[in-house]
Amino acid sequence: MNFEFTEEQIMIQQAAREYAQRELIKDVIERDNKAIFPSQHVKALAELGFMGMMVSPKYDGGGMDTVSYVLAIEELSKVDASASVIVSVNNSLVCYGLEKFCNEDQKEKYLKPLARGEKIGAFLLSEPEAGSDATSQRTTAEDRGDYYLVNGTKNWITNGNSASTYIVIAQTNPAKKHKGITALIVEKNSPGITIGPHEDKMGMRSSDTHSVMFNDVKVPKENRIGEEGFGFTFAMKVLEGGRIGIASQALGLASGALERSIAYAKERKAFGTVIANHQAIAFKLADMAVKIENARNLCLKAAWLKDQGKPYGIASAMAKQYAADIAMEVTTEAVQIHGGYGYVKEYHVERLMREAKLTQIYEGTSEIQKIIVSRDLLK
Ligand code: CAA
Repeated sequence: MNFEFTEEQIMIQQAAREYAQRELIKDVIERDNKAIFPSQHVKALAELGFMGMMVSPKYDGGGMDTVSYVLAIEELSKVDASASVIVSVNNSLVCYGLEKFCNEDQKEKYLKPLARGEKIGAFLLSEPEAGSDATSQRTTAEDRGDYYLVNGTKNWITNGNSASTYIVIAQTNPAKKHKGITALIVEKNSPGITIGPHEDKMGMRSSDTHSVMFNDVKVPKENRIGEEGFGFTFAMKVLEGGRIGIASQALGLASGALERSIAYAKERKAFGTVIANHQAIAFKLADMAVKIENARNLCLKAAWLKDQGKPYGIASAMAKQYAADIAMEVTTEAVQIHGGYGYVKEYHVERLMREAKLTQIYEGTSEIQKIIVSRDLLK
């Protein structure tokens, strides 16, 4: 077993770390306070090749592997998880689905600009009454000859307003339940689409989350991904990779909180010495580090399996569940170590804690990941 990274993987990790520590950090608190979308950073991350990092160079992507993706998302998330989720959704939920399951015309038209980072993508699965229960899609796509007529509402859409390209999961044959669900590529500026207001979230405040309403939206048949009825399998396959991205984000939130806690513990004095010399603090740091190392190994294992072309759905669910849960624990401990300073924005850890909470919710709650893992154990 080889635990060493390649030179290229280390370079990608380094590039992400440098950008995050030099640029993302500058105005991250202001962006969080005012819920400002990080447009200039998305542009810079695209120039660095991160927006389509796993897409093949044939389609204008970076051709990097999933292990590199884990390393990059961890580094970005240590500083700004709102920026990292934009990168993650674009790569794993949108570009991956387009590259893996779309035809050449669709890739030429939609994948290439997304891989170059000129456009942003969004994945529209969740609905007011279909979050965890993703088979209960109410959005309909009615066959009207050479186009589908789409009606319905999608909720909690990351990149909902900033995206130009939507992947929409809709019901084409309700009688067939999940086997009647179909995936469509929809251009955001299509007539009949209305974007709901920016959701005023607890964390990840500068990523734009919106509901998206479809009222008699005409989608050409050539924008269907695969066959009719393939949409649910498509969504599940895409989410398997998406969960590696969110697991890596949770990992970054935890490791960012640990790095800040170590630095603080070595400076802050109490009872005549730096607090790192008190076992109450040092043991917390050790516990945080062990959890982070476990989460990192789960993320890298899932990524490695994907890169080897082996099944990775269970590994990605394990990584997502564990990394999200320990991110919540570790960031909460980081606030505790910082004491009163941890509760104010200047020290960042309260923001990391707010952001960690979302990793237990989106792209499948921690409970959904346990359903996936336990069903596999019991099948
Ligand atoms: N790959 C391929 N097929 C799969 C699959 C997978 N990973 N998982 C399930 N399927 C297939 C099943 O085999 C089954 O097909 P058959 O009927 O032909 O056998 C079909 O899909 C239905 O599967 P289940 O019976 O297991 O369905 P279920 O209703 O019990 O739900 C679930 C399964 C895993 C809970 C699923 O609904 C799920 O993942 N829910 C969570 C949805 C989610 O993650 N939402 C996140 C939204 S996206 C987001 O957050 C993005 C963002 O903006 C950040």
